[in-house]
Amino acid sequence: MKLSQAAYRLEGQKMFQILTKTRELERQGKDILHFELGDPDFDTPWNICQATIRALQNDETHYAPSIGLHDLKVAAAKVTEKSRGFKPSMDQLLVCPGANVSVYYALACALDPGDEVIVPDPGFVSYFSILKFLGLQIKRVPLREKNKFRLNPIDVVLAISPATRMIIINSPSNPTGAVMTPAEIQNIYGLAKRNNLYLLSDEMYARMIYDNTVFASPSIYDHCKEGVILVNGFSKSYAMTGFRLGVVTGPAPLIEKMGLLLETTVSCVSPFIQRAGIEALRGDQEPTFAMVRKYKERRDLMVEGLNSIKGIKCLMPKGAFYVFPNIAETGMTSQKFCDLMLEKAGVLVVPGPVFGEYGEGYVRLCYCNSIARICEAIMRMRRVL
Ligand SMILES: Cc1ncc(COP(=O)(O)O)c(C=O)c1O
Repeated sequence: MKLSQAAYRLEGQKMFQILTKTRELERQGKDILHFELGDPDFDTPWNICQATIRALQNDETHYAPSIGLHDLKVAAAKVTEKSRGFKPSMDQLLVCPGANVSVYYALACALDPGDEVIVPDPGFVSYFSILKFLGLQIKRVPLREKNKFRLNPIDVVLAISPATRMIIINSPSNPTGAVMTPAEIQNIYGLAKRNNLYLLSDEMYARMIYDNTVFASPSIYDHCKEGVILVNGFSKSYAMTGFRLGVVTGPAPLIEKMGLLLETTVSCVSPFIQRAGIEALRGDQEPTFAMVRKYKERRDLMVEGLNSIKGIKCLMPKGAFYVFPNIAETGMTSQKFCDLMLEKAGVLVVPGPVFGEYGEGYVRLCYCNSIARICEAIMRMRRVL
């Protein structure tokens, strides 16, 4: 039987596909060091797990309101007020099963097939897959190494066409770890406003910032009342990838429709998972700070180690938990480099082109890994090159 045209356009998340292949090698006994998936190696803080257990003990195991528990939305609004200086109203907030799907809901409810979306390239893989699935046009704006992989507002100006309806930004960025400056964010916001475009700001890594770098969000300008859609989630900052929980903030009419889509597709987010989210936001933040301190240590080691290997040049990223080294001088393509690393060094890294058309010549490593394993990986890579 034939499938829908949209189904043929689906690409999924290649990282999961790479991982499935690698598991097969591991079943055959190969020892592999994993640097591919952006999944914290830290345990979810215990107070968050306990809140989930308590909710289960209290029989919070039934349907919940589809737009999310009021208490979680209140907690999220309070955090936004503290971190970004404005308090969204309840009808501007939607609790989602992860940030990934909130990007999908936002695009599906804001845009029509054929509309054009400006996307940073290299960028988070799901953007491309979702855009293709929905029949939206992708306008790629290159993130250049010479600009430290920050999105350049001038490139965005050049990319805007009469068909453009949205700009996606992601700072700190997956896969480069780059953090845009407040001036760049303000510039992009001004562009979106002047051209009447939505501006979707994916702020998944907002809490993971190093070296006193300033984090900036375009939401401070319109308070998510006009065109800014703020995507956030618990996966990374609270090591909660398996909980599947995020909160999206946006203009009330859009959020209302996204809520209907959520209600149609998943009914609601499990209430005991939402209780975990409330605890994450209201409880002790020290576990997150401690994780970020550890990530910084690992980042420093990773960058220093990579730069000590012939043919590899790696910038020091200011946020998230990824490095995106340039491997062009090895003379290999990104894919060839990754194949060699997997086969000869047992180190799993991701080819840059997985993240877009401008990713060739680069690879991505996620440093959600112990210091010992990072050192081991660097040693093995050095031996092979
Ligand atoms: C930039 C970015 N946005 C969104 C997500 C999705 O996160 P979630 O686990 O909440 O779906 C990820 C996960 O890797 C990401 O890197």
